[in-house]
Amino acid sequence: MCGIIGYIGYQEACPVLLKGLHRLEYRGYDSAGLALNDGSCNLRIYKCKGRVSELENFLQGKDISGTIGIAHTRWATHGVPDNVNAHPHESQSGNIVLVHNGIIENYALLKEVLSSNGYVFKSSTDSEVLVNLIEYVKNTNGCSLLEATRQALRQVVGAYAIAVMEKNDPDHIIAARQSSPLAIGIGKGEYFLCSDAASIIEHTRDFVYIDDGEMAVISRNEDLKVLKLDNSEGKINVRKLELSISQLEKGGYPHFMLKEINEQPRTITDCIRGRIDVGNMNVTLSGFTFNKEKFLNAERIIFVACGTSWHASLIGEHLIEDLCRIPVEVEYASEFRYRNPVIRKNDIVIAVSQSGETADTLAAIEIAKKSGAFVYGICNVVGSSIARATDSGTYIHVGPEIGVASTKAFTGQVTVMAMLALAIGQAKGTISGEDFHRIVRELHNMPETIAETLKSSERIADLAKIFTYARNFIYLGRGYNYPTALEGALKLKEISYIHAEGYPAAEMKHGPIALIDTEMPVVAIATPDHTYDKTASNIEEVKTRGGRILAIVSKDDRHIRRIADYCIDVPVISECLMPLVVSIPLQLLAYHIAVYKGMDVDRPRNLAKSVTVE
Ligand code: G6P
Repeated sequence: MCGIIGYIGYQEACPVLLKGLHRLEYRGYDSAGLALNDGSCNLRIYKCKGRVSELENFLQGKDISGTIGIAHTRWATHGVPDNVNAHPHESQSGNIVLVHNGIIENYALLKEVLSSNGYVFKSSTDSEVLVNLIEYVKNTNGCSLLEATRQALRQVVGAYAIAVMEKNDPDHIIAARQSSPLAIGIGKGEYFLCSDAASIIEHTRDFVYIDDGEMAVISRNEDLKVLKLDNSEGKINVRKLELSISQLEKGGYPHFMLKEINEQPRTITDCIRGRIDVGNMNVTLSGFTFNKEKFLNAERIIFVACGTSWHASLIGEHLIEDLCRIPVEVEYASEFRYRNPVIRKNDIVIAVSQSGETADTLAAIEIAKKSGAFVYGICNVVGSSIARATDSGTYIHVGPEIGVASTKAFTGQVTVMAMLALAIGQAKGTISGEDFHRIVRELHNMPETIAETLKSSERIADLAKIFTYARNFIYLGRGYNYPTALEGALKLKEISYIHAEGYPAAEMKHGPIALIDTEMPVVAIATPDHTYDKTASNIEEVKTRGGRILAIVSKDDRHIRRIADYCIDVPVISECLMPLVVSIPLQLLAYHIAVYKGMDVDRPRNLAKSVTVE
């Protein structure tokens, strides 16, 4: 994962780089570092284990002058998170310095070749191999840094976004990309490079997104050049980023996650805006409208996704099978890409990704495209790699999600899937007029429904105190709410480090019931739907064995209220939209438990928000 950033211009680089690194911390926060050049070929590297704030402390009293620099925040892949493995890495002579996001898969082989040519390595990283390979090529061929980087990258197998500079050249940065994001920000008399355009929006809104196999030559006071690895010229397409700085700040909340949970009435409004027309009873998604025939002729839909996006896809499966009668499969992108999947021409592959950068999902898209399938994307980040790699798609438009645990992106994804299912179902005639009207009205009212659900936050905070010291949790749900249970369990694991499992309620008796005792809290989703009575029996089975039950129920529920130890009330709407409502208390429960445990809610250990390595 990792985040990289670079600057060349008239400002002092260090503050620009540090501010950008803070914004990129969601990509990894094991260690951070930067390299600066003061213009008289005085190249300094400062790096240390820990977060960007620790790097800031480390920089106190140091010479941080210079109007050119590159920086990095790390999510360790090769080598433990320590000072030595932190980036930037310098070449053996100290003449070339590099930051890298990605994985060099053939690093071991390259390292052997370099070792036999006298190179000695300080770190355990694949990135140090790459910077030495560049130096080796440069020295052997007597070429420029640009040419050496180009030739070195042609020998590399793997994923990278890199920035490289040279000690004796304070006027150029070379950057390159293969499968890891890289954008160049264009200012007046200055350039920025970064893993995510949002990291530098104070400075510019004009960006060039570098494509796979491309290199950027960023020069002081000269036009940007983009080259391909075969030396041909690449296209420069400047795009405007629409984003406000307030969207990247906490807005008075103690954590981004809490802000993002509370934003959901607004983010759902943004997601359905211009798409749901309750007056004319229309659902319009341009990605669907332009490709209507493809959807109408689809023999099968395959969702590919990871993590929370995979859970949202499981809900998409229910929605599309229910409302459109098209068979659906949901695949982990990482599994799909490494088996030999049967993909037919009339299959539609829907790639779901908040970040639009997940390496496995991108690879799954490539496989689907090679098989001739039509590939549709459901993404949040506009202009992201997945948004660009898919044939068409729908943005969820929920704004930047910064908390590592996904919340508003999940509900945005499910909302888009509901709209897509309604649009296909109406066009195919597989949904009755009555159902269509009811679900459209409920989606239109969803922001208010979610606002109503959020009112239980204080009650959930009280309940969270009771469960703070639990060591395990089981989440049960059925039908549409089975994936919601999986997502609830994932939220808890991610930020509180409590082991939690989601299970289909009836399946529990085939194994997990053995775990039930008085120590085991069970979160049971038991809102009124066509399996309500069955779920009630499953909850009885838990109760009989002494489990502590926290049930999510409707306000009018009488039956489960008598069995459960604690209840959280939610508004009730159509079964197919209930995951949007039920996920709110589950997000809040995970959040409050993690806060009581004193966890770093927005930056949980070992995780990163954007997983650009496989
Ligand atoms: C990481 C994040 C998760 C996310 C998953 C998929 O694991 O921590 O929150 O669900 O990646 O990411 P994507 O951006 O493709 O939705």
